[in-house]
Amino acid sequence: MNILLLGSGGREHALAWKMAQSPLVDTLFIAPGNAGTSQTGINIAINATDFPAIKDFVLANKVEMVVVGPEDPLVKGVYDFFKNDAAISHIPVIGPSREGAQLEGSKDFAKAFMQRHNIPTAAYKSISKENLEEGYKFLESLQAPYVLKADGLAAGKGVLIIDSLEEAKKELAHMLDGMFGDASKTVVIEEFLSGIECSVFVLTDGNGYKILPVAKDYKRIGEGNTGLNTGGMGAVSPVPFADDLFMQKVEERIIRPTVEGLKQEGIEYKGFIFLGLIEVDGEPEVIEYNCRMGDPETEAVMLRIQSDLVNLLQGVAQGDLDSRTLVIDPRAAVTVMLVSGGYPEAYEKNKIITGLESVSPESIVFHAGTKEENGQILTNGGRVIAVSSYGTTKEEALAQSFKGAEAINFDKKYFRSDIGFDI
Ligand code: AMP
Ligand code: GLY
Repeated sequence: MNILLLGSGGREHALAWKMAQSPLVDTLFIAPGNAGTSQTGINIAINATDFPAIKDFVLANKVEMVVVGPEDPLVKGVYDFFKNDAAISHIPVIGPSREGAQLEGSKDFAKAFMQRHNIPTAAYKSISKENLEEGYKFLESLQAPYVLKADGLAAGKGVLIIDSLEEAKKELAHMLDGMFGDASKTVVIEEFLSGIECSVFVLTDGNGYKILPVAKDYKRIGEGNTGLNTGGMGAVSPVPFADDLFMQKVEERIIRPTVEGLKQEGIEYKGFIFLGLIEVDGEPEVIEYNCRMGDPETEAVMLRIQSDLVNLLQGVAQGDLDSRTLVIDPRAAVTVMLVSGGYPEAYEKNKIITGLESVSPESIVFHAGTKEENGQILTNGGRVIAVSSYGTTKEEALAQSFKGAEAINFDKKYFRSDIGFDI
């Protein structure tokens, strides 16, 4: 079968790498892809949100499945675009409907969904300009620090955590005044939860589900989890604190009610659910939902899926996921992200990347922000390369990935050498 994968980051290279190993795949296309995905399939110069161009391409190239990497096309309704067009409605799209993608696209929607289905999460109130006074009162009822979240997508920057009540009130007003554009016309104020976080990934066909390997990502730019938030500087799987007992609670209290709740409400969801969880005194609570896989978690998680991913995705498309098997590799897998100097603030692009071929074959090099020009691989983003490795232990895997991270070079390269330090 021919498959089209949408997206262009490290997550997409890892998905492409895994899918390309499947005997079920004839040709794998990636739109638009990067310099790494072109080693596992054929890049096509179409933007992941250009739905009419995607339609033309899938028809011309006999694509039989579309797999969606990032949230943008999902929130913009790529699933519904296919479903509602008779010429392409037979082609399955792996990802939720526009309504299902609201679990990520609207924090207010996600919180109300969790409340309706008794899914453990921080207390909250949704505030717009009309009920600003209520927002101030709710803040006064909470203890510091204060959590303010833009309702809509804000490229991972829409969450403020503030120590002083006065400042929280000021920032609330600023957010409602358009600090994050339309995304912060509504702001979710949340109770602050203290604990350690992990990322749980679920693949569902709307009825059954499979729980993929759990990972932990490292969001801050600086060692010791300091400095600005980034898209993610590395990931580790498995996560020791997410043991059988914890995962049993996650499945009973969060995964099952989520899948059941979507079904009960008639929300079509055939794709990945990403649960951002926090462990508070041994109990899991939901920090956020995403409607896609995590990045860089996918660059570790894909290494730990032994089964044929395309077979599982077919199970999603055909609605018989329960009859498919998911075998998980017992080894540890880790990912270390190489980023451009300056990231997550301003950084330069178009730096020549060298040393890729000198990385030991025991590591897998996933491209994130790269492009190929005149036979050279150039940096093309903040997060540039993810070096993933296996190990019998996390430490062994990390040592391997750090070796790879040293071997690859580009001007102003930076990576965190303490990934996995806290678990
Ligand atoms: P989100 O975009 O909702 O995942 O939030 C970004 C980050 O802010 C999370 O990964 C947490 O580290 C932190 N965060 C979000 N909500 C809370 C909360 N209620 N309590 C504590 N930390 C939070
Ligand atoms: N690593 C977090 C995310 O993909 O949103």
